[in-house]
Amino acid sequence: MGLAAGGDLTVKIGSLTLTNPVIAASGCFGYGVEYAQMVDLASLGGVAVKGLFLEEREGHPAPRIVETPAGMVNAIGLQGIGVRRFVDEKLPELRARRATVFVNVCGTTLDEYVEVSRILADAEGVAAIELNISCPNIKEGGIQFGCSLNGTFDVVSAVRNVTRLPIIPKLTPNVTDVASFARAAEEAGADAVSLVNTFLAMVIDVETRRPKISNIVGGLSGPAIRPIAVRMVYECWQAVKIPVIGMGGIAEARDALEFIIAGASAVQVGTANFVEPLIWPNLLNGIREYMQRHDLGRIADLVGTLDTTQPAAEVRRRTEGPNDERRARPVQGATSENIGNLTLYSRPGCHLCDDMRAVIARVACTIPVTLQEVDISTDAELEARYGPEIPVLLVDGMKAAKYRVTEQQLTRILSGRVGRV
Ligand SMILES: Cc1cc2nc3c(=O)[nH]c(=O)nc-3n(C[C@H](O)[C@H](O)[C@H](O)COP(=O)(O)O)c2cc1C
Repeated sequence: MGLAAGGDLTVKIGSLTLTNPVIAASGCFGYGVEYAQMVDLASLGGVAVKGLFLEEREGHPAPRIVETPAGMVNAIGLQGIGVRRFVDEKLPELRARRATVFVNVCGTTLDEYVEVSRILADAEGVAAIELNISCPNIKEGGIQFGCSLNGTFDVVSAVRNVTRLPIIPKLTPNVTDVASFARAAEEAGADAVSLVNTFLAMVIDVETRRPKISNIVGGLSGPAIRPIAVRMVYECWQAVKIPVIGMGGIAEARDALEFIIAGASAVQVGTANFVEPLIWPNLLNGIREYMQRHDLGRIADLVGTLDTTQPAAEVRRRTEGPNDERRARPVQGATSENIGNLTLYSRPGCHLCDDMRAVIARVACTIPVTLQEVDISTDAELEARYGPEIPVLLVDGMKAAKYRVTEQQLTRILSGRVGRV
């Protein structure tokens, strides 16, 4: 049973079931085979291999990497052996070692993405395609798709047409509203999204006044970016229904758990592997230890469980006293009198609204609430404010969640009200 023993670490990414949620990030783990003597590749949730174009690429000249506080800046320039050599020379060994292979697909044109994906679709042993539309280090290519909503939609749709493999577009953090890109990917048929790729960055040697890497600018990774990446994962999780794969500065189990609580179904680890190539058992053991301590049978149950309801928690503390460790039990405290009025601003046919309705129905079985539903497709003002796809849940006129509220969150919000009844 290996590292996953003790709790259910499996996670689902589209049609794919990973044995655990920890994946080696692209560009930081070679083609996987280089690490096979040190790491049991089958013990990882997945191995995302270095980005591949149709043809071989040399990448940028050295220096291509520079260390920064709590991170590094790189501009490798997507050096690689090309997809055909990968299929011939690397894939057989990855297959033999039972690795779950995510191939990071690059392209300078839409046709190239399609062609590389088509070749991979025909190859045996590829578990998923991670579409790299986010590399900040080459002028032509991915990022021109990844920074445009239409470009994101087009490249995902085009690849969707040539493969049934799970498609996971990898999003750039170098945009203002990353969630809208996750939505565009979802609408185009992506099975999941992964984020974040590196942040555009620059390091200067002040003595020589020269940039420290040959490409002048590069991508920042490592613990320095983690809080921004966690925020972006949270935003995407709120915006889409497909799984989110989170990464950015994960160096220990607690970091991975942060991403999972923010909404990541799985995580990837990049830069930390350069510091500690034997990080993997520690990460998995740390996650298992947390699951035991928190009495969690399945890691999947931790996904997106961030508790954002401080006001309700404060009410509870005030009514129960600071040392009262009991969890609020609203159902027992509630009278049959209705204690909450919920307004769901929804739109027919919107899957997020359906989700919200189901959550409310379940909570309303135990806490008496009245649901009033307002069809926002007839309310131009609301729709203009919140967008056609977004249900807005109000509890007694107070906005509970802009996009989506979990069952646990809703229960807590209503618990706060029970405290005041
Ligand atoms: C040296 C290096 C090479 C990378 N190459 C790729 C790549 O080929 N394709 C890709 O999608 N991301 C690439 N990345 C980005 C990582 O996969 C990851 O998204 C990013 O580094 C953030 O995670 P981390 O902080 O755990 O490293 C690379 C990162 C580094 C540091």
